[in-house]
Amino acid sequence: RGKRAFIAGIADDNGYGWAIAKSLAAAGAEILVGTWVPALNIFETSLRRGKFDQSRVLPDGSLMEIAKVYPLDAVFDSPEDVPEDVKTNKRYAGSSKWTVSEVAESVKQDFGTIDILVHSLANGPEVSKLLSETSRKGYLAAISASSYSFISLLKHFLPIMNPGGATISLTYIASERIIPGYGGGMSSAKAALESDTKVLAFEAGRKHKVRVNTISAGPLGSRAAKAIGFIDMMINYSLENAPLQKELYAEEVGNTAAFLASPLASAITGATVYVDNGLNAMGVGV
Ligand code: NAI
Repeated sequence: RGKRAFIAGIADDNGYGWAIAKSLAAAGAEILVGTWVPALNIFETSLRRGKFDQSRVLPDGSLMEIAKVYPLDAVFDSPEDVPEDVKTNKRYAGSSKWTVSEVAESVKQDFGTIDILVHSLANGPEVSKLLSETSRKGYLAAISASSYSFISLLKHFLPIMNPGGATISLTYIASERIIPGYGGGMSSAKAALESDTKVLAFEAGRKHKVRVNTISAGPLGSRAAKAIGFIDMMINYSLENAPLQKELYAEEVGNTAAFLASPLASAITGATVYVDNGLNAMGVGV
């Protein structure tokens, strides 16, 4: 049987989630997607109308199939957590069963089990503020959407993950080095995500024989990154200063995710794997 992957955090064909889906599909996996509720409509419409057909092409010429798209809001674990204003918001009211526990339950009903879980989502409402000027609410929102969301996904999906399975999240070097501009507690959220990768590797490994790794990716001009506002500068900085002076392709992150999810990586867990043209290894820019 081929493997089945659930990828949380795809809403267009520009981000790392899409590239990971493609690499997993190219390796023969069945693809399920979790899409942020407010972005669901446009994503599904674009898919249906063939807007992504060019970027769905796999190396063998076939098109990536998405078996099912689930609406998801990873800041809510169960319906009791959803405040009234969100429930009645018209972008949410049109969809149902999008809290993490409900999505896991739906996937279980539809498909039984999965082998691969990918977390490719983040959100920090105050990302453009200095950390020292971030509000408590903004900081906690960044941690909730970008770090706890992974714990929640793991908690609810682990029971339906087959032994030998693997989970992957995406992190950024701002967790460990100063990257001015990556504010609002997003650097803190990535630090939590990386630390949690280790503890969760222990817990998921012992209990379910599931591996937990994170990819520290270099800069990519995704929708989320453009919203931060300094992505072009970071891309240029990398081009000038990284050991490999070339563009970083989302596909390179996708391929690493496919490797980490495969039996080729059967002894790798609790790791932060850099896919950044080597930029993390530099001490000074030259
Ligand atoms: P993206 O915009 O393609 O992906 C982020 C996704 O998160 C979007 O689809 C958005 O709808 C979704 N999302 C936001 N809040 C959500 C919520 N509450 N529930 C469910 N989904 C939600 O952008 P990108 O950059 O590919 O981001 C994917 C991951 O890669 C993120 O964890 C990001 O921090 C990480 N990353 C990105 C880098 C970059 O330069 N683009 C560098 C290093 C890491």
